[in-house]
Amino acid sequence: MKFTQKLAVLMVPALLVLGFSASSAVAKSSPRHGIVAAYTLVVPNSIAKSHLQVRAVIPNGVACPTVTKTYANGYKRASPMKLRAPGATTGPAFASLRACQANLPSGLSYARVGAIGVPAKFQPKFDKIAVFGDTGCRVTATQVQNCSTPATWPFARNAESVAAAKPDVIFFTGDFFYREAACPADKLAFCGASPPPAIPPAAGQQYAPITDTDYGWVADTLIPMAPAFAAAPILVTRGNHESCFRGGNGWMMLFEIKLKPDSCAPTAAGASAPNNIAPTYSVDFPITSGRTLRAIMVDTNAGSNSGITPEWQALQKPAYQKADKLAAPKTGRESWLITHRPMFGIDDVHQFDPPDPTAIPPDPGELNWTSIDQTGAALGLTSRFNLMIASDVHVAQVVQMPGQPAQVVFGNGGSVPDSTNPADYSVPAYGPLNTPAGHAINPAYPPINQLPSYVWTKIQYGHAIFTPSAKTGRWSISQRNTAGKQFAACTAVGKKVTCK
Ligand SMILES: [Fe+2]
Ligand SMILES: [Fe+2]
Repeated sequence: MKFTQKLAVLMVPALLVLGFSASSAVAKSSPRHGIVAAYTLVVPNSIAKSHLQVRAVIPNGVACPTVTKTYANGYKRASPMKLRAPGATTGPAFASLRACQANLPSGLSYARVGAIGVPAKFQPKFDKIAVFGDTGCRVTATQVQNCSTPATWPFARNAESVAAAKPDVIFFTGDFFYREAACPADKLAFCGASPPPAIPPAAGQQYAPITDTDYGWVADTLIPMAPAFAAAPILVTRGNHESCFRGGNGWMMLFEIKLKPDSCAPTAAGASAPNNIAPTYSVDFPITSGRTLRAIMVDTNAGSNSGITPEWQALQKPAYQKADKLAAPKTGRESWLITHRPMFGIDDVHQFDPPDPTAIPPDPGELNWTSIDQTGAALGLTSRFNLMIASDVHVAQVVQMPGQPAQVVFGNGGSVPDSTNPADYSVPAYGPLNTPAGHAINPAYPPINQLPSYVWTKIQYGHAIFTPSAKTGRWSISQRNTAGKQFAACTAVGKKVTCK
């Protein structure tokens, strides 16, 4: 070998290490990288000016891949992704997976991590918004959904139909994670391969110190959500199933955008997970010229559905005060409050939350109206929203309280409903924050002594597609089953929603 040839052989690796040119950087983004899942999250512009952040889920031990971006003019560039590691104290529960993140710039026509294409456009005009939530397969010691057939756990089929609708964005309204216990021996046909918590609950406890695991997240979300991941960027809402003591550790690593990846990690191995809520934020979606939708996101993972919890009120109320400020009126802008737990939801009357011992007077248990901690914290702070979008009750529902924006619930994404009997979701004879006996749930929170002017509930798995009408504040909402077929048509006009 001549000296000049030797020099060239020596120089090539050096140039690659230095990232000498854009083409060498692209070459490093090998499509052979072992990506488990990749998706694009919608984030506020304080995080990424483009509103888009790519996440990749990788085997633990593999370096984060690069994200390869193709600009509208054909120019390609590869950039590194940054590791999102779970907390050290999550130990054996998160041994196999890691996540990576990278903000995308504006003006892309395409992006991929490894060989997986990811949504790369924040549309200049949003014509179609898909909404769904409550999707995981419920496995607890006492309640087991049949996770083994698409008819009984239709999340993947639902995600496929959402993708087929070609939405510009997906609003996921919370509750990915439901695999909270080992599959009971008599239910192996339903959930035999379902990953249990790494550390079982202590005797007499309902939950393990860390209920979720990497394999649980793969089964409950990363596999069934794959069609939707490929379809559109996702605005994600944290559900009560993503509280730190449930699916929180996976949520922080995979989906959270405001808190750190280890925010749910216990302070010591084997200890309980902490509690937290993320700060409120908003994202503006251009709809038509002069018309903008402002989605205002409040983390409602915490609190009680049936009582007032003072320690959560202290955190949750400021979250709604900020949401109210973000909803300040502006010509052409309409604001939606997006939470997981509804402000005015009507739940299965037979569902029973353990009574809250801190409530005054004593919490009488589930009262149909849900979620009481949210209703209390947001009292007097909801009037500026056009609509309130939520989930948590595993049905499609509209509840119109006089003088309030309509509460629309999209909890029918695939998790089994608490009841399939419509009579169990009947309209209470008393208002929110009140009790059947006519006294306030908590004397510091005056009951809303009104009944809803309109309620519509449908027990049917599926998702919804929002399409803006020509006039400001008007939307058509197509309620679709898991095959993508419309089962109800709803219309939003101003703060009112009706369905037929
Ligand atoms: Fe749920
Ligand atoms: Fe929920």
